[in-house]
Amino acid sequence: MRFPPSFLDEIRARVPVSSVVGRAVQWDRKKTNAGRGDYWACCPFHNEKTPSFHADDRKGRYHCFGCKASGDIFRFLTEKQGMSFPEAVEQLASDAGLQMPEMSPEDVAREERRATLYDVMELAAKFFEEKLQTSDGAAARGYLADRGLTASVQQTFRIGFAPAGRHYLKSYLTDKGITAEQLAETGLVVTGDDIAVPYDRFRDRIMFPIRDSRGRVIAFGGRAMSADVPAKYLNSPETVLFHKGRVLYNLDQARAPAHEYGTVIAVEGYMDVIAMTRAGVPHAVAPLGTALTPDQLALMWRIAPEPVLCFDGDAAGLKAAYRALDMALQHLRPGQSLRFALLPHDRDPDDLLRDEGAEAVRAVIASAQSLVDVLWNRALADNDRQTPETRARFEVDLEQTVRQIEDAKVRGHYEAEIGQRIKALWDQGGGRTRFARGRRQPGAYNNRRSGKFGNFRPWDVKMPASPELRAISARADGAVGGERRERLIVLAVINHPDLLQHDAEQFAAIEFATRELDSLRRKIIDIAALNEGLDSDQLRHHLIQRNMAASLDKLELQAERLNSWHVERGAALEDVRTGFEHMMALHRKMMLERELKAAELALAEHPSEETFRHLNQIREELSSTRGEEAAIEGFGEASGRSAGTLS
Ligand code: GTP
Ligand code: MN
Repeated sequence: MRFPPSFLDEIRARVPVSSVVGRAVQWDRKKTNAGRGDYWACCPFHNEKTPSFHADDRKGRYHCFGCKASGDIFRFLTEKQGMSFPEAVEQLASDAGLQMPEMSPEDVAREERRATLYDVMELAAKFFEEKLQTSDGAAARGYLADRGLTASVQQTFRIGFAPAGRHYLKSYLTDKGITAEQLAETGLVVTGDDIAVPYDRFRDRIMFPIRDSRGRVIAFGGRAMSADVPAKYLNSPETVLFHKGRVLYNLDQARAPAHEYGTVIAVEGYMDVIAMTRAGVPHAVAPLGTALTPDQLALMWRIAPEPVLCFDGDAAGLKAAYRALDMALQHLRPGQSLRFALLPHDRDPDDLLRDEGAEAVRAVIASAQSLVDVLWNRALADNDRQTPETRARFEVDLEQTVRQIEDAKVRGHYEAEIGQRIKALWDQGGGRTRFARGRRQPGAYNNRRSGKFGNFRPWDVKMPASPELRAISARADGAVGGERRERLIVLAVINHPDLLQHDAEQFAAIEFATRELDSLRRKIIDIAALNEGLDSDQLRHHLIQRNMAASLDKLELQAERLNSWHVERGAALEDVRTGFEHMMALHRKMMLERELKAAELALAEHPSEETFRHLNQIREELSSTRGEEAAIEGFGEASGRSAGTLS
């Protein structure tokens, strides 16, 4: 239904935003200045302790400086109270003492038709859900169980099954009084001039209902259970209810947790959304098999200032991420951006959950990179920078990209930041490369010049992030930094088993979050206990005998990207030991900090002497670890970001 804009304006003029919002929040007496129409409160859209939520009666709008929720009285009732737009209008009109405008007969007819179509979709969703539980659905249930989808996950997403015949759903709905025309309009049956008898569109498929932002079923995605069916997924066609470029799968269920977490995650597919939820990331949504559209981006920005795109770790996923980046540039606004979480090679979130567990999935999200970093790294990867001409080309490419940003303020800051990065890149050796290359320089790159880093090119190194940027990413990527460190720790021991003479106990006691590394570590300890005075080759040999060849290979491969000179086989044991001990200390500290967070939460939830004592214990341990911190800050941590800061 469309309301005349003048009617909505009249309501806005009569109903102050403070009175509507005031029913849901407690105004902060100190900050509020009612005389000026300025109201402040703790934000009702996210959790906070100090008020950053502002309502302005003069403008008739509210805005949260924390989570960026903003809108007018209608928006507040639809987003916070979950009303439909017409419901909000009706309530506010009555608050304002205004009569609702008459709807034209066509309006009434259109509304009714739409309303019935929602009912039809709901009936179909129930039908598919029920079929999944019948004997027809046995294979489908098996398929879902194999993929790790429990009954409760199936219920959360209302997963169903469309049986193999051509007229199951059609007869079911027809029996319920649904007309052929309605069936055609929902896209649930296939019709056409050349089709004599319309038939069910979805046959022998697992059914994923697609819901709108209010949770109403508006379309379906159907997945084939075997690989030899031509289309893996079959989606509903565009209908009156469903415009795929304007819908995000799972938005309705993701919204509340997204406010809580302050962000929303976009993944590629249905199964990825479900994997995220299973991994404890319920604020995930997905576009419907097409590139992310501006409309979909706007939907995400309505609930979070910096949505995270987490696309598959293959060429297509990267391409999709770059495409989204380019599309987003135009729409960037102060405080409004995107982040990018890059999945490991050839993985999607669903694979990662299956192979490495929930922690790994969450770690990927936590390690999301800022848009400016991704834009910069793409330019680095795309361009040769060996000659003055290619270096100029590199700059021009970046300038062109930045020029896409429409907002002047944001563009200005991009120009400044990219300018600084370019300058630092050339200062690091870009301008003098011919001469600097191959010569031994003091400091930074010294140790990396030999062996497999022989063709290392300083001007290809990502510049040191600004201190602020580094602080942000360090905060965000605690977990992944941790995994990287775990790899380095294991690699150090494999390359220098002599470390175990002093540090075996520490090495055995330290907690690893990555399962694969954990089991590698255990085998190493086993082997070392049985074979004294083992060298690196012997250790490798034993590991291979114990079926660890694949893990070993993977570790070596990753090491190439890990900036790992300080654990290389050629490095002096003394240096390796210093580095190793630093890494262990940092790792313990990180683990303690995690424990501290958990303990604080536990205390808040179940205040008791025991939880309190536990918290204090961790605090003490942490403060004793912090003593070592000054000496080790940055070691084995910042090095992944910039070889330039290694010393
Ligand atoms: P699984 O392969 O079952 O793990 O599902 P997925 O969700 O991971 O699928 P994938 O990553 O291959 O594709 C992402 C999304 O693209 C899907 O969720 C669908 O929305 C869409 N999609 C994939 N394959 C097809 C297809 O053959 N036809 C159509 N129309 N859409 C597809
Ligand atoms: Mn998948």
